[in-house]
Amino acid sequence: MKVKTVFNCQKCGYQSPKWLGRCPDCQAWNSFAEEDYSPVEVKSRSRINLDAQGPVLLKDVEVKDAIRLKTGIAELDRVLGGGLVQGSVVLIGGDPGVGKSTISLQVSNQLSSQGIDVLYVSAEESVQQTKLRAKRFGAKESESLYIVNQTDLGLIIEYIKKLKPQVVVVDSIQVIFDGQFSPSAGSVTQVRECASILTQLAKATGISVFIIGHVTKEGSLAGPRVLEHIVDTVLYFEGDRFALYRILRAVKNRFGSTNEIGVFQMGEKGLEEVGNPSEIFLSQRPRDVSGSAVTSAMEGSRPILVEVQALVSRSNFGYARRRAQGFDFNRLGLLIAVLEKRIGLALETEDIFINVAGGIKIEDPSADLAVAVSLASAFRDRMIIADTVILGEVGLAGEIRSVSQVDIRINEAQKLGFKRLILPANNYKGLKNNGRELELIPVSSLKESLDIALGGKK
Ligand code: TYD
Ligand code: MG
Repeated sequence: MKVKTVFNCQKCGYQSPKWLGRCPDCQAWNSFAEEDYSPVEVKSRSRINLDAQGPVLLKDVEVKDAIRLKTGIAELDRVLGGGLVQGSVVLIGGDPGVGKSTISLQVSNQLSSQGIDVLYVSAEESVQQTKLRAKRFGAKESESLYIVNQTDLGLIIEYIKKLKPQVVVVDSIQVIFDGQFSPSAGSVTQVRECASILTQLAKATGISVFIIGHVTKEGSLAGPRVLEHIVDTVLYFEGDRFALYRILRAVKNRFGSTNEIGVFQMGEKGLEEVGNPSEIFLSQRPRDVSGSAVTSAMEGSRPILVEVQALVSRSNFGYARRRAQGFDFNRLGLLIAVLEKRIGLALETEDIFINVAGGIKIEDPSADLAVAVSLASAFRDRMIIADTVILGEVGLAGEIRSVSQVDIRINEAQKLGFKRLILPANNYKGLKNNGRELELIPVSSLKESLDIALGGKK
């Protein structure tokens, strides 16, 4: 019999009967690999022995509140939506070296010290290596934390059946394989099928599963993207391995909100939680320098104060360069255009760099005004008045538009000792003045904002 093959995009799992140079779905170049086409899902289901339940009336379905296990790591619990839901599958994705193994081992340690049985499948590293890592952050000797170095999914499932743990960690999915699928470990088929078998197992038994996945380096291993629709929760660990701070972000969560973040710091003893990120993000802020502004970005339910830095310098090339780190590039282009057109700044021939300090990525439009002000500050080499937080969305006409949740942002700024807050006039109108120490300065246009913010000494 002729073996049927199919071409899979190794990034997103798109299938095609022939090789393609570029994936029509995720636009990745040269991402297709030939794999055997094996319609075998039926076999995998029977192995797990799902308690098949027939159709019932919707009105008769009882809803139980999801049972959540506190992981003992508050930043993680928040991102999960208040703890790890029993029977849920959580994918933790991230670049190699950001700390996926570290955090998953720390969670395992925390859970097991509460007497919860955990099986940690260390598929990439030997049990000795894992032990050394655990020693590094001072893991307790526990009767509940099991570890195995195994990549064969069939055996892993046997261990799970025997040990009956409440939580299983699979680190990482890309090296796990199941003999019934022919392509090698790491291919889209293997990654997807192994993850879906683990998911069925979690649903059938109530075991919570953490799946660790590396983010794809072009064309190498199957990316976690192919898993996003299989699992319940997808967390991405951001921040490169040289940065001090790591941000855990939920990009999908069936059991909670997706805009929460958890902030960690990689230290000598594993990942430490950063309870008050604003303080950390602002701690290295230079004083007495033009081009540095502070804004408040909402990350889920938390306002985080961050520093926006701008550098504007005469371009030596025929064209001006524009770079944005942590801020949307197109949005930057728009702000530059507004500054040119509405304020008359001659930025065409200037190289412009924007950087959000601390490796945070701001998506909140309320940071617009701070970016625009820091740009003007850098261009004119005038400092922004001290101890000021700047909030507001900038419209195309140079108008300042209102932002969400000003109250908590004001409180955060006050808590951190800021003296002034520049905010949209529309937001100001709705506020009650209940004895704040912080001076609120309402603005309605970009021009007015610049006059106030850069009014200080040169
Ligand atoms: P690791 O968790 O192995 O990353 P991943 O599983 O995502 O590939 O660890 C990442 C880095 O963190 C590694 O370079 C070593 C460093 N590290 C510390 O700085 N302190 C520690 O206590 C530990 C355990 C690791
Ligand atoms: Mg690892």
